[in-house]
Amino acid sequence: MIFGAILAGGSGTRMHISSMPKQFLPLDNKPIIIHTLEKMLMCSKIDVIYIGVNPAWLGHMSDILEKYELDYDKVIVVPGGKSRNDTIFNIIAEIEKTYGENDEHIIVTHDAVRPFVTLRILDENIENAITYGACDTVISAVDTIVVSQDAEQIDSIPDRAKMYQGQTPQTFKINLLKSLYKELKPSEKNILTDACKICVMKGAPVKLVKGNSSNIKITTISDYNIAKVIVGSDIVEAEEKEH
Ligand code: CTP
Repeated sequence: MIFGAILAGGSGTRMHISSMPKQFLPLDNKPIIIHTLEKMLMCSKIDVIYIGVNPAWLGHMSDILEKYELDYDKVIVVPGGKSRNDTIFNIIAEIEKTYGENDEHIIVTHDAVRPFVTLRILDENIENAITYGACDTVISAVDTIVVSQDAEQIDSIPDRAKMYQGQTPQTFKINLLKSLYKELKPSEKNILTDACKICVMKGAPVKLVKGNSSNIKITTISDYNIAKVIVGSDIVEAEEKEH
C-alpha cells in the first residue's frame, strides 16, 4: 500500500508568530495544511494519508478537517514527535498497528508547510520509491554554494552543476527505512537533518526526483508573503533540464 505522511509536528519558531504553528496559518481562504492535504488527496495512488500533528494541536487539526469537509476515513491524524524524524517514525508505528509490516509498503513523507507540491512530483516519487526503494525531491542549485566551517572564511566552492537543494516529498519503502535507521549509532541519529540522510549514511541509493522552485517550504515571514503571491497563480513546470 501507499501511505501519505504529512509532517506537521513542528511549532514554527522561525516564523515568529506566536498564535499558532505556521502550518495552521491562513493562505488564501484556508489553512496552509489544508492546501497541502488537498494536493495529496488529488494523488489517486495514495491509499491512506496520515497527518503527524504537534500534540497540543490535535483537537484543532480535527476541527479544521471537519470545517473543510476533509474528515474522510482515509485521513488519519496522529501525534507528531519531538523531531521531524520522530514524527515520521510515529506515523510508521501507527501505519503498522493497522496495516502490519510489509516489504511493499511505501511512505510518501511531505512537509505540511509545502502547499505547492504538484501531482507530477507526487507520482514520480511513488514510481521511483517502488523501483529504487528511496527517493528525494530536489531542484538544481541556482546560487553558487560556498562552504565555510567557521562562518568567517570560504573553505571551498563546490561545482554548482553538482549541487541541488532538497525539498519534499521524500519517499521510502517503509521496511527499508526502518532497517537502515536501526543500524545507525545514537551519535549518528543525533546529526540527522532529514530522512534521506538515513539512507545516505548507510550507503543505500536515493534516486533524485525533479522538484519545482515553487514547491517552497514556508519557514519565515518572507516565505509566507511569497506563498500568498504563489497561491493565486498557476504553477508552470520547466520543459527543459535546468543545468
Ligand atoms: N516537523 C514535524 N515534527 C517535528 C518538527 C517538524 O513534523 N517535531 C515538520 C514541520 O511541522 C514542518 C516540517 O517538519 O512541516 C519542516 O520543518 P520546519 O520547517 O523546520 O518546521 P518547524 O520545526 O515547525 O519550524 P522551526 O524550525 O522554525 O521551529
